[in-house]
Amino acid sequence: MLAAIRSAAVLGIDAYDVCVEVDVAQGLPHWTIVGLPSGEVKESRERVSAALANSGYVVPPRRVTVSLSPGDTRKTGTGFDVPIAVGLLVALGVLDAAAVEHFTFLGELGLDGAVRGVRGALSVARHVARRDGASTLVVPPANVNEAGLVGTLRLVAPATLQELVEGVRGGTLTTAQRREPGAGHDEGADFADVVGQESAKRALEIAAAGAHACLLIGPPGAGKTMLARRMPSILPALTEEEALEVTAIHSVAGLLPTSGEYLAVRPFRAPHHSISSAGLVGGGGVPRPGEVSLAHHGVLFLDELLEFPRSALESLRQPLEDGRVVIARAALSVAFPARFSLVAAMNPCPCSFLGHPSRPCVCSESEITKYRSRLSGPMADRIDMHVMLTPVSLDALDANVAAEASEAIRTRVDAARALQRRRYESLERVECNAHVSGRWLLARGRVEPEARRLLMEASEALQLSARAYHRVLRVARTIADLERSESVVDAHLAEALRYRAR
Ligand SMILES: Nc1ncnc2c1ncn2[C@@H]1O[C@H](COP(=O)(O)OP(=O)(O)OP(=O)(O)O)[C@@H](O)[C@H]1O
Ligand SMILES: [Mg+2]
Repeated sequence: MLAAIRSAAVLGIDAYDVCVEVDVAQGLPHWTIVGLPSGEVKESRERVSAALANSGYVVPPRRVTVSLSPGDTRKTGTGFDVPIAVGLLVALGVLDAAAVEHFTFLGELGLDGAVRGVRGALSVARHVARRDGASTLVVPPANVNEAGLVGTLRLVAPATLQELVEGVRGGTLTTAQRREPGAGHDEGADFADVVGQESAKRALEIAAAGAHACLLIGPPGAGKTMLARRMPSILPALTEEEALEVTAIHSVAGLLPTSGEYLAVRPFRAPHHSISSAGLVGGGGVPRPGEVSLAHHGVLFLDELLEFPRSALESLRQPLEDGRVVIARAALSVAFPARFSLVAAMNPCPCSFLGHPSRPCVCSESEITKYRSRLSGPMADRIDMHVMLTPVSLDALDANVAAEASEAIRTRVDAARALQRRRYESLERVECNAHVSGRWLLARGRVEPEARRLLMEASEALQLSARAYHRVLRVARTIADLERSESVVDAHLAEALRYRAR
């Protein structure tokens, strides 16, 4: 007999329907799985057989064919175990086909019949809710919290295969509820802890308000790492849609806490400089999101920027420009969102003391040039703001005067973002000044003639590229927004240009 069961799989961070067909026929006992299954999908045969036997269901020795359609996309993951087991039970007449038709099944099976968690459950839940709000999603108990974020979808979460089968038969499956998330906000790190460093704080405020990339350059102990780590505390709260997207990416990467916590705080990713290009932008035979995608809607912090392999840094070019990464493989190409604010930190020279008020730098001119050239021109060009720091004096540290708290800064950032949202309402995929095209800004960004003239002159003097020209304009627009100024005047442009002069 033949059974067709609904399931879904994840490609990138989006899910698509997969129909699991199971046919049981007379013939030599044998299992075949077709539909481009990867290794772990093929192994579901072993898990499903053992889980069925250990749950008390007898599978007679027949020829079993499982087909996962559409047959032309590669299937990965362990989430097909449950739909295959259910399909087999329908094909064997243990379950009634009509009883399962309103369900979509997802889950891995343990050999004992336990239903185990899978990656990407949130993506599947969002997809099923969009496709057919009336259907019920069967998810592993471990994924209830994340799948439950899609409030409109009915979920059931049986702990074992037996519970699932009995529940379907008797119509007794109860709706699973997600536990409310705890407040996941990190209250610890605040800009109030940082003494002085006003120009760096100003730059980070601008970067936060317009989502611009910022590089902090300074000697050891200047507070670069300290400042960068406080960046999330001045970013606006995530919208619900953004939070869902961030959570979905972490779910696909298998990085959601086991409690299935909803990620309501902007991500802050600080990968170590030993990371590979694939780790940074994503990759693998079955593409997984990299750090740039895990930092989507948040901050990617690259401390000790010049220690990163050059190839890794170069791989950041596409996401920095497009806000997404496309990973191409022979059979498929997957796009992951990657719209992050880049914050980077580095020392100014090999001995690291250039610009230090008391310790002399011992590097030669050529050593410094060589050191700096580790950051390629195109990469340096993509970083909107370069900020030089000097350590604060011990007297200032000792005086320990309380600085402005993050909350006050965030209020200004929020106001500037609100202006941008209104301005770009009609533009797709544009929320901040960093996302808008230079042409749009020149045409409709209210840039005053004298500001344009200044930009022209400075671009020639500094030999700015076309890209840098547009980026300066965007930063100037953000500076104007922080002042709630309708138009961009020459003072705004002059400040934006200061962050370019290196
Ligand atoms: N402006 C400051 N206000 C308060 N504390 C500071 C400040 N600058 C530095 N510190 C103290 O110095 C420590 C070291 O700073 P941090 O690690 O941020 O330096 P860094 O610039 O990243 O140095 P490195 O180049 O060695 O990485 C901080 O943890 C903090 O305790
Ligand atoms: Mg540091």
